[in-house]
Amino acid sequence: MAGYRILVCDPLAEEGLRILEEVGEADLCLQFTEAQLVEAISDADALIVRSGTQITAPIIEAAGQLKVIARAGVGVDNVDVAAATRRGILVVNCPTGNTIAAAEHTIALLLAAARNIPQAHSALKAGAWERKRFIGHQVSGKTLGVIGLGKIGSEVARGARGLGLQIMAYDPYIAPEHVASLGAQIGSLSEVLAAADFVTVHTALTEETRGLISTEQLELMKPEAILINCARGGIVDEPALLEALRMGTIAGAALDVFAGGSEPNPELIALDNVIVTPHLGASTAEAQVNVAVDAARQVVDVLSGQPPRWPVNMPSLPPEILAVVDQYVPLVATLAKLHSALGMGGVSRVELRGSGELSADHLVMLTRHFLVTLLAPVVDEPVNYVNAMAVAEDRGIQVAQSKTSTARGYANLIEAIIEADAGTCSVAGALLQPGEGRVVEIDGFEVELIPTGVALLIWNAQPGQPGFVGRLGTLLGDAGISIMGIQVARNEIEGQGMMVVRVAEALGSSLREQVVQLPGVTRTEIVNFD
Ligand code: NAD
Ligand code: MLT
Repeated sequence: MAGYRILVCDPLAEEGLRILEEVGEADLCLQFTEAQLVEAISDADALIVRSGTQITAPIIEAAGQLKVIARAGVGVDNVDVAAATRRGILVVNCPTGNTIAAAEHTIALLLAAARNIPQAHSALKAGAWERKRFIGHQVSGKTLGVIGLGKIGSEVARGARGLGLQIMAYDPYIAPEHVASLGAQIGSLSEVLAAADFVTVHTALTEETRGLISTEQLELMKPEAILINCARGGIVDEPALLEALRMGTIAGAALDVFAGGSEPNPELIALDNVIVTPHLGASTAEAQVNVAVDAARQVVDVLSGQPPRWPVNMPSLPPEILAVVDQYVPLVATLAKLHSALGMGGVSRVELRGSGELSADHLVMLTRHFLVTLLAPVVDEPVNYVNAMAVAEDRGIQVAQSKTSTARGYANLIEAIIEADAGTCSVAGALLQPGEGRVVEIDGFEVELIPTGVALLIWNAQPGQPGFVGRLGTLLGDAGISIMGIQVARNEIEGQGMMVVRVAEALGSSLREQVVQLPGVTRTEIVNFD
């Protein structure tokens, strides 16, 4: 057992806790305050939460060696993802394990609201047999408006179709084919609200969706319509909803989530035409096992150096893409080291161009790895593939990737072009076979160099000058530095050539100065590829 320390901040199903035993010890920190978590997190390697704990920026700032925050559920609105990204901490979620549970709860709320089940239940338990008061509405043949046709919205649509409801959906980010495959009709938000007898909300809570359903939207709904929110509090503007329910603008609401979280607005939940549950959407035994297992498995993967299945703050790519990326990581690190050695000054733009098997997805990940090697030596904070883009952005570095057909005779070529104070500079590498990379271009000079050990780059205005190699060999030999190999670039640029000399160790500054004094030498740089 590697002995990692994993904080579990909310109750987690036993099946998940058992998986964590593969890599370490789960430390239960249930109902900890922010101050207690700030203290507990300092030597934790991973943290798991459900929705009961807020993982705030001060908690994240106090982490000493935290590698991953796992959310055993979908919504990550209780985790300060931006703060985690900045610290290079992975955030993962479990987006599929409770989809069915949330969809079933939505349908349960829809039927319960249509048939006044909670109200009738309470009345009867209180001794009142009131059949007339609780006459409900049939749902078959009515229209359900689904706002957000993602995983849960789609599952609700499927279930509701089975109950005979017509589905109208609003989701600006979903393909029309998906809508059609559900037998649903797409509409604008206004069209859906106006047509629906029941409206159910299934988006994430984002800046765009906060208050998506407010006074204006509620006024578009039918007076007999019922609004269901089993997604997130805050998507529905609660003061506007309270007003609409009091005024009879709509007939009722069924709410599982509230803007105030576990402290819902008492006036709202007291209304007779509102039925409520305390955030029970995901609360089935099956869903809790699913998300606990998914969260724990990802924690184990990350702590074992494997990519997580559902990363939130880095690109989520299939294993076959990541397998190709892994083969190129050493080569892009080599290219970044070369750029650092070329010392071009403040970098303003980085572009990775790939040919052959490299797709846009590969290049997105490889750019992160390139930035890690390029930026780690020059920034104070730790840089890793999670925060590489954020660190680049902080430094005003534009980042781009492109696919190129230029392969220069290599099957798989990758070029790294940097714009910096001293101008634009390009280096390129080729992957000859898995694990076998070559540097094939240094600042326009064509070479084919095995990137290991230390290399002395020499720019020479008198390329091919007889006796140069002998003089260089004497100079280095006198200093006790062995030459492991010499390669002369195949091309010249404006009459200047380049020689790459692989040496046993780096040259000190005075020896380097003596090399610069050799006839024709205009510049030298040293690269340590190891
Ligand atoms: P999802 O990402 O699969 O689907 C969200 C959908 O919303 C996407 O299709 C997206 O295109 C759409 N969308 C985004 N912005 C929109 C906008 N402005 N207007 C309309 N549609 C928009 O997510 P999911 O897994 O279906 O989860 C949906 C919500 O349910 C999340 O908020 C999640 O946190 C919540 N949830 C709640 C419970 C619960 O216990 N009540 C359980 C699970 C999930
Ligand atoms: C989720 O986002 O997964 C649900 O709201 C359920 C939960 O918070 O656990």
